[in-house]
Amino acid sequence: MIDLHTHILPGVDDGATDLEMALAMGRFASEGGITTIAATPHFYEIPTWSLVKQKVEELQNEFRNAQIPVDIVPGAELLMDMGIMDMEARDIPTYGDQGKFCLIEFPLQQVPMYAEQVLFNLQTKGITPIIAHPERYGSVVENPNLALGWLRQGCLVQMNSGSILGRFGSAVKETAKIMLTSNMVQLVASDGHGSDRRRLNLPEAFDALVEIVGASRARELVETNPRSILNGDFQLKVEPVEYRKRRRSFFSRFA
Ligand SMILES: [Fe+2]
Repeated sequence: MIDLHTHILPGVDDGATDLEMALAMGRFASEGGITTIAATPHFYEIPTWSLVKQKVEELQNEFRNAQIPVDIVPGAELLMDMGIMDMEARDIPTYGDQGKFCLIEFPLQQVPMYAEQVLFNLQTKGITPIIAHPERYGSVVENPNLALGWLRQGCLVQMNSGSILGRFGSAVKETAKIMLTSNMVQLVASDGHGSDRRRLNLPEAFDALVEIVGASRARELVETNPRSILNGDFQLKVEPVEYRKRRRSFFSRFA
């Protein structure tokens, strides 16, 4: 499996606090069957993209010394902000520094009015935005079809494995299921912050994922799609569909 959303870089954000924890996260991931991890620190907490890349190289060396067989790819989690529109393409953190796919999160409470504009601006720079964990956003829980707008605009959607496992409550879990069965998700990742509660739990969610979407689609979400994103050749194969809430009709209550 390939985990494209982790806070494994030590001492840069609210993820791994030190090298020891980062190594523990790496070992745990490897034991669960993860071969590649993208380090995606909160970009507002780390000063520059070049520093992220340097820290990834350092951690990869530490993994090698500790014989942890996991590759680390540089990335970052951007926070939706108007300022992104002023950034040069080369300064925007993209997976593997390929200038093709970036991870971007929105504030949990509400989707900003300017979101569509910022996403479009990234696309004009040749970058496909991947929306981080929309199933956790209040407005998406209320209306999962909001994700359709981003997908139709050409963005991709990353879901947290913890959402599938119910770590963020039953409403988020329910939203995750709706989005998965409506083909609104292209990749699942852990968003792991440490080695305890918010650990790299992508392998733990795999069985639940198989139950919802079947084995072959589950594989796509944790392996094939993340790999093609890292290769820069991802193509959307499964069209998302609108979620229609099934309401019980007046007469069915008497049936
Ligand atoms: Fe994150």
